[in-house]
Amino acid sequence: MKMINHNTNKSDLAGLMKTHDCAQLRSSDIGSEVILCGWNNKYRDLGGLHFIDIRDKHGLTQLAFDEFTGDFATLKGLSLESVIMAKGVVRARPASAINKKMQTGEVEISVSELTELSHAEEVPFLPHGKVSATEDLKLKYRYLDLRGEKLQNMLSVRSNAMQISRQALYAEGFTEVETPILYKTTPEGARDYIVPSRVHPGKVYALPQSPQTLKQLLMIGNTDKYFQICKCFRDEDLRSDRQPEFTQIDIEISFATQEYVKNLATKMVRKLFKLDDSFEISTMAHSEAMKRFGTDKPDMRFGFEHGIVTNLFKGSGFSVFESIIETGLNKVMFVPSSIKEFSRKEVDALVEVVKPLGGKGVAWFKLKGEDVSGGISKFIKPETLKELKTITGANENGTFFFCADAKASVVHTSADALRRHFGHSLGQVKPGDYKFLWVNDFPLLEYDDEDGRFYACHHPFTMPKIDRLEDFMSGDVEKLKNLTAEAYDIVCNGYEMGGGSLRIYQSNVQEQMFKVLGMGEEEVQLKFGFFIEALKYGTPPHAGIAFGFDRTVMLMAQTDNIRDVIAFPKTNAATDLMCSAPSLPDTAQLDELGVKLISKK
Ligand code: AMO
Ligand code: AMP
Repeated sequence: MKMINHNTNKSDLAGLMKTHDCAQLRSSDIGSEVILCGWNNKYRDLGGLHFIDIRDKHGLTQLAFDEFTGDFATLKGLSLESVIMAKGVVRARPASAINKKMQTGEVEISVSELTELSHAEEVPFLPHGKVSATEDLKLKYRYLDLRGEKLQNMLSVRSNAMQISRQALYAEGFTEVETPILYKTTPEGARDYIVPSRVHPGKVYALPQSPQTLKQLLMIGNTDKYFQICKCFRDEDLRSDRQPEFTQIDIEISFATQEYVKNLATKMVRKLFKLDDSFEISTMAHSEAMKRFGTDKPDMRFGFEHGIVTNLFKGSGFSVFESIIETGLNKVMFVPSSIKEFSRKEVDALVEVVKPLGGKGVAWFKLKGEDVSGGISKFIKPETLKELKTITGANENGTFFFCADAKASVVHTSADALRRHFGHSLGQVKPGDYKFLWVNDFPLLEYDDEDGRFYACHHPFTMPKIDRLEDFMSGDVEKLKNLTAEAYDIVCNGYEMGGGSLRIYQSNVQEQMFKVLGMGEEEVQLKFGFFIEALKYGTPPHAGIAFGFDRTVMLMAQTDNIRDVIAFPKTNAATDLMCSAPSLPDTAQLDELGVKLISKK
């Protein structure tokens, strides 16, 4: 990880109890009288020569006590992580004691006064210790973990990203507007967190899953170019890149086209990731991303693209592939021997990559010169091989891998997992490399056979492709199944970093959308009546995007765990281990709210 330079200016310290921070002193300061404040990071007694490393956010300085005339008992009794204040004179270290690895390694302080400002009991773990604590212990004592360099650097990256984003958007003429947290359902595909009202017993507020309707109302209200760095709340299954409350850089613009939004996103990416003005983001339609990568958020840092070979195995004699030709999908990937020569054991282990996704196996064969061997090679005819080479672009020795299933979705997800596995395990990912992609033309709706109804792929405020609006309004189920949306995502290194769309701005189209999503008129009226009414009073066409801010910071800080970039994160079970939230409410509080708990088996 790249270190953040926390340079402190003298004026930043005016009025503080200290004259310098613990990373500041150099040979040029020799002879100065200084005061340092910080934690007792390390105490050493080298046969009567006493040293302490004093530590703060910025670094360490060595304190020496050979000229100390104070109380040595205090010094010896000082526990690790106690907060101290040391006054003394900067002096050069003897040549043999110079530590080149330490910013302040050429000097030390000859301490004349030492004060224990705050005594530390034995800490559950040392933030700078060599022994690493368990994840749960670190979350329970998050404030101790925050003392470490890793999390302080993350917080700096985050703070910096916030500043850059704000500056970039102000420079483009945006107005920052805060929207309410106590609100009404704003569906983004998750469950709502709800807050019971005391004043209106039996009624609840919902915390916004995003400020989607609010930002659209701001467009109706003449705000023109809006942004907000806001909290969103979603009760959904958590993963390493998802938190129940997270932050978005939320943006909406009146009269905007997709081109405007993409240009704006490009400008922000240039600033956040320090890319030059020639940097552009290439665009790929959702259908192409699915075909070539099996996912709508492909990691473009490596190859191993998918080829579709479903029909190629007609009459091949390999029953697994033949049985899925009518309804299913078969995808191929090629790994050149120059990247990896797989052993039998290694290819056999690949099934574990696809199993969790419903994949039943990974078929394979090897190519050497014109010879095929291993796996399903006996089913590979010369003309099949020729086709496979063309489809994958294979022009050297290597291994072909196949994922096939009667369900196309299983093949896409399995082959995507396999491709990512190759990318990561075969050394194809360079640290610090960023590959962005603008994915658009998403499907508008997803039909769930089990529930017998449509779900919005993005959210219910997304405009159907304008040239298919008539088909959308027709309500014909077959037509609805094939509609694409005026929606787009910005993808980076396999993460969905942000997403947005052109919005429905006609009340009748919005009403139709709720109807298509299976909502009755009464429900629509109750939940969104106010919004549909607002659309009737003159609504500028508008579009927007929201960046997942935590994910953006994760990418900038090169970590793959969203918790690293959040000061006080929750676990994957949506709990806060530090304060034990969620917790039982007071009975009196429940009475006041008119809420009764029932036990859930
Ligand atoms: P969407 O739901 O795609 O769109 O969210 C936008 C971005 O927010 C991030 N994100 C999350 N980050 C952390 N934890 C989560 N649980 C989580 N969920 C989403 C992702 C995602 O790309 N209102 C629309 C935006 C719009 O249409 O303008 C919205 O919220 O990075
Ligand atoms: P089998 O005929 O079941 O012994 O499988 C022969 C090869 O095909 C093995 O390498 C399996 O991993 C692989 N295989 C089985 N099912 C699938 C599938 N659905 N997709 C791809 N390969 C498969």
